[in-house]
This record gives sequence, structure tokens and C-alpha cells, in this order.
Amino acid sequence: MTGRRALVTGASSGIGADIARELAALGVDLVLTARRRDALEAVAATCKGVKIEIVTADLGQPDAARALWDTAIANGPIDILINNAGFGYFRRFDEVGWARDAELIQLNMTSLVALARGFVDARKGHTTPAHMVNIASTAAFQSVPNMALYAASKAFVRNFSEALHDEHRGTPLSVTCICPGGTETAFHAASGGGDYSWIANRSTKSPEFVARATIQAMLDGERTVVPGLLNQLSSFGVRFLTRRLASRVASQVLGKPRFALPAR
Ligand SMILES: NC(=O)c1ccc[n+]([C@@H]2O[C@H](COP(=O)([O-])OP(=O)(O)OC[C@H]3O[C@@H](n4cnc5c(N)ncnc54)[C@H](OP(=O)(O)O)[C@@H]3O)[C@@H](O)[C@H]2O)c1
Repeated sequence: MTGRRALVTGASSGIGADIARELAALGVDLVLTARRRDALEAVAATCKGVKIEIVTADLGQPDAARALWDTAIANGPIDILINNAGFGYFRRFDEVGWARDAELIQLNMTSLVALARGFVDARKGHTTPAHMVNIASTAAFQSVPNMALYAASKAFVRNFSEALHDEHRGTPLSVTCICPGGTETAFHAASGGGDYSWIANRSTKSPEFVARATIQAMLDGERTVVPGLLNQLSSFGVRFLTRRLASRVASQVLGKPRFALPAR
């Protein structure tokens, strides 16, 4: 992988930061993006021995992803696209507002598709291996009350990614969907969530664990990977429940919102 170039979104913290470190350990040059330059610089300082470019972008804004893509390819082709940036809110839909919904739709879906579009178009005619990884969630497997829009956005990411994987079977481009369960990152504080039921807390993984599983799945050209045994069991098990019951179980597993919803 030495000398290949990867674009990692949401690289300033959590899973994205650890994916950046995993890629650097493989010798992959990095274009790291998020909104916070200082946090990106701190992550870049931990990625040793590779070339790193930092591009700040607010992918919750229309057209930011296209501009990011143009900047990312200005210094050479991108061989690996990691669509990781995302956020959610742990609240009833009727307690939040359109501004947050619009940002979520833009970041979790529209910007992800815009980057996928840039990447797939740019790879046409290339014979060298290339990889796209899209980070969904175990929330993609059923509806999730109090995370209605987030879970729907991740179901979109999963369906989109799996179809792209199938379209590109037998080509040099692999498309992999990662569906993490609860992961110890800033995601939960930002969503007004955290400290869920016993089973949810018990199945929580570290971002390092998820990042390692992500890179392994990418290298293996996997279609969809759920990191962690309990998460695999629950995401497999929902197919034996009615959709109404699966939604109710998800609601029980997360419990009720108890923490304030921070401003964005
Ligand atoms: N943590 C979990 O339990 C969990 C479970 C399943 C799936 N996931 C998914 O994993 C991915 C990474 O989340 P994480 O858990 O690592 O959370 P995190 O630590 O909060 O990281 C989120 C990343 O997205 C970036 N981001 C947020 N809003 C953005 C915006 N408007 N424009 C550009 N970048 C933005 C953040 O950077 P800035 O703030 O600097 O912009 C940060 O780098 C997300 O897609 C999330 O849905 C997380």
C-alpha cells in the first residue's frame, strides 16, 4: 500500500482518526478532512512516515463535498476513499428541528454520495486496485426510535454501499460497508446520548478495534462487516424478528434520552 493515497473524512476524532493511523502504518499517504483544523493536526502528528495533507471542510453544507474532492485530487489520484464523517441525534424527531435534520442528511448521505461519485468516476479505466469504505452502523439493520433519521441515513449508506459492491464485483474497485455498534467516541456526547442499557454498554468497542476491523475488511474486499461478536449476533438476529419488534427492541436497548442535546 506504500505510496497509495487515501481521503479520510471525519479524521479529526474517533473511528476516522484511528483509520488514519491504521492507513499510515501501511504506508498510505493521507488527505485528512473534518471541520476542526487543530484536531486534524493533532491526528496528523500521530500518523508517522507518510505524506499528509489537511483540508478543512464542513460536509454538512451543500457543495462542500464536490469542492473537497477537487482539492483532494489536485495533488494526485485518490486510491482509497473512507467515507466516515457522520453524526446523529438521540432525541424524538419532534423535539429537534430542520437545521439539524438538513445537516445530517447532507453529511451522512448527500456528501457521502458526492464523494463516491467523484471517486467512482475518477477510477474508470484504472487497473490498479482501489477501495471505497463507507461507515454505516448497526442502526442500519432496523428502525431506531429516538434515532429515526440517523438510523434511516445509515440504512441508506448500507444499501447504497452493498449495491455498489455488487456492481463492481470482478473490477479493481472494491466497496465495503462497515456497520459498527456502539463505539467509545465523541459521537455519543454530540448526539445527546451515552450510558445506554447494560447490553448496549457491554457490546461497546474501542475506535481502535473498529478501525482495525475496517482496514482488514477493506483489504479483504468484504461487502459488509459488523465489528464485534455481540454486534454480529444482534444484527443477524433482527432478521428473525418482525420489523415492529426489532424497532421496539432497539428502543429498549438504547433507553430514554437523559442528557442535553448540544448545539451544533
Ligand atoms: N460511535 C459510535 O457508537 C458509532 C456507531 C456506529 C457508527 N458510527 C459512525 O462512525 C462514524 C464516525 O463517528 P465517530 O463515532 O468516530 O464519532 P466522532 O468521534 O464524533 O467523529 C465524527 C467525525 O465526523 C466529523 N464531522 C462531524 N460533522 C461534520 C461536518 N459537518 N463536516 C465534516 N466533518 C464532520 C468530526 O469532525 P469535526 O467535528 O472536526 O468536523 C469527526 O471527525 C460516523 O459516521 C458515525 O455515524 C459511530
